[in-house]
Amino acid sequence: MKSLIVLLLFLPFLFSELNVICTNGFTLINNKCLRLFVEPTSRRNAEKHCSTFAGTLVTIKSAEDNTAVSTIIENSTKRAWIGLYCFENDPEKCSWDSENGNAKEYNNFAANFPYIEMDKCVYFKSSGKLAGKWLSGDCQEDQRSFVCEIPTSFEAENCLTMSLKTTVTKTSGFWYDTDCLATEHFLCKRSIGKDCESSPSTVAPLESKEYYSFFMKSGTFSSPNYPKDYTANSTSVYSLATLGSQKIRLTFNEILTEPDYDQILIYDGDSVESPLIGNFSGVHFKKQIESSTNNLYITFITDSTVNSFGFTASFQSII
Ligand SMILES: *[C@@H]1O[C@H](CO)[C@@H](O)[C@H](O)[C@H]1NC(C)=O
Ligand SMILES: *[C@@H]1O[C@H](CO)[C@@H](O)[C@H](O)[C@H]1NC(C)=O
Ligand SMILES: *[C@@H]1O[C@H](CO)[C@@H](O)[C@H](O)[C@H]1NC(C)=O
Repeated sequence: MKSLIVLLLFLPFLFSELNVICTNGFTLINNKCLRLFVEPTSRRNAEKHCSTFAGTLVTIKSAEDNTAVSTIIENSTKRAWIGLYCFENDPEKCSWDSENGNAKEYNNFAANFPYIEMDKCVYFKSSGKLAGKWLSGDCQEDQRSFVCEIPTSFEAENCLTMSLKTTVTKTSGFWYDTDCLATEHFLCKRSIGKDCESSPSTVAPLESKEYYSFFMKSGTFSSPNYPKDYTANSTSVYSLATLGSQKIRLTFNEILTEPDYDQILIYDGDSVESPLIGNFSGVHFKKQIESSTNNLYITFITDSTVNSFGFTASFQSII
């Protein structure tokens, strides 16, 4: 373990001797691999296009990053999507698509933005008085150019492995050039403070509250009182959201409601104005539904008679 820690400390030093490169027509600016796509498209299509390069819409975490985006756009277009999605009119409630936190530490919103009444997606203004500023744009309707970002690569022929055993040719703890196609053990890392897919958090509905809002990778929720009967004349609303680049898969493990009257309605978006993609009542098991965006809105409305168990559901973020 000790040798691993020492090696990690040297990591930045070792890599700084290698040339950082960008693949696939991306340009290295301020240590970011960026590429502008001028052809206007919707926010979701833009994100999809970036993902074909294993990237996301650009993340801007500093004034230098912001200048890099201005530089890559130059005079080619007036506005471009960036990888930020705002749930509220507060930079802290705006999440970077690349799972890179929110925009509290650094942002360059124009005055009075973000403004989610306009919509929750964010674009970069690259000309005029507001050049370099960020504004809110319509996620579905607005067609804009966009800037993708991919991780930087290192100009090295081979991949590296660390030897964990001392042999005739190798010393434990040292790194060796290895064919990138070789089969090897590997060590993963993940961000701290995040839920693992394998142990989703449980969100207990609060009886006194009728509105539940979740923003997380995965979780579960149930009708009020489940597995006891729900109450008559009640309305429960569940609002699910994930990162702008992801979608939501919702699974109703069990549904037991009064057929045709106590309905679970699922909207493909963030309100009842969004398209209705599910309408369940009666008895169902393992009903699965997927959003086309990063929001799902679910209502459960019960009438004055015949109450039952209700439902229990789980959700997860998917690419
Ligand atoms: C971009 O626009 C600025 C200001 O209008 C101008 O000075 C500059 O020459 C233009 N650059 C290119 C590459 O067209
Ligand atoms: C859901 O389905 C029921 C029939 O089971 C129907 O009466 C109701 O109008 C539907 N709700 C919506 C919002 O379409
Ligand atoms: C539900 O609403 C109906 C009609 O408004 C009313 O007659 C009934 O008493 C209510 N039931 C409960 C349990 O509140």
